[in-house]
Amino acid sequence: MIRDGQLASEKNSSGESPSRRPRGPRRVLVVGATGRLGVAIAEALADRGDEVVLTARDPNKLEQLAASLDRGRGPAHLVCADLTHRDAVAQIVEGLRATLPPTETRGSVDDIVLACGPFPRTPFDELRREDLERTMTVHCIAPLLLVHALSGDLAKARGAVVALGDAGTTRPYEHHVAYLTAKGAVKTGLRALAVELAPDVRVNIVELGIVADPEADADPLRQHRLATRSQLGRFGTPEEVVHVVVSLLDATWATGEIWGIGR
Ligand SMILES: NC(=O)c1ccc[n+]([C@@H]2O[C@H](COP(=O)([O-])OP(=O)(O)OC[C@H]3O[C@@H](n4cnc5c(N)ncnc54)[C@H](OP(=O)(O)O)[C@@H]3O)[C@@H](O)[C@H]2O)c1
Repeated sequence: MIRDGQLASEKNSSGESPSRRPRGPRRVLVVGATGRLGVAIAEALADRGDEVVLTARDPNKLEQLAASLDRGRGPAHLVCADLTHRDAVAQIVEGLRATLPPTETRGSVDDIVLACGPFPRTPFDELRREDLERTMTVHCIAPLLLVHALSGDLAKARGAVVALGDAGTTRPYEHHVAYLTAKGAVKTGLRALAVELAPDVRVNIVELGIVADPEADADPLRQHRLATRSQLGRFGTPEEVVHVVVSLLDATWATGEIWGIGR
């Protein structure tokens, strides 16, 4: 484990020189923790000594992941909630308060990673009000309200929020009006929160191209077409996303920033 103030030149127990980590071990809430990117993020945080708290909908997937993240301190904490439900934010906050009661100096969590939500295909001809309401709720309203509700906890820890955004909000693609609208809204909402919460809490966004596309998985031609739209000509890997998420969690002089990758 790397402690606050440890120098880049110092060796860790395996004899390697760790890069300098500006903050000590953190307690990080990962929202959408059981997704392909959420799992990779939760694993990387646990591996570097952070205490990870998981939330998503499916209790079985959450329990399995929590057990797999045991790094000698027991399974990770978890809270189940469906972000489409109006009481989801209250449910998550109550769950955190019950398992990790705040003290005068420390809240229930220090940092939040927002990696939640579905990727619904909404063909233009079939677009309905419900599609927009549902994606706005999961991808925008609930995440913003969650950060709002936990802002005092984050402030006690000089905490950070890092959210996974989508490059399609600046270069839209077809059949995803509802999803892209919600991702665009949450990007603006989070940048507004960065202003509201500075200087105690930092809020940054990773705006990514494609790591996985449900339709391209079964269609190599589509995969090739989508990949060549990005300058680097390929899909990304979860590890490449994790690298940027962790860097932004630790970027103590950055807030309101959007770090684009794979666009
Ligand atoms: N993968 C990509 O190529 C890509 C590209 C650009 C942006 N992104 C963004 O990156 C983030 C993660 O993507 P991903 O590919 O890891 O997604 P994913 O594999 O589909 O995982 C989504 C996660 O969100 C949870 N979730 C879905 N609906 C929910 C709801 N109603 N309430 C609570 N939790 C819910 C899922 O849990 P349950 O299974 O329990 O529902 C799961 O943990 C998303 O915000 C996405 O917009 C991804």
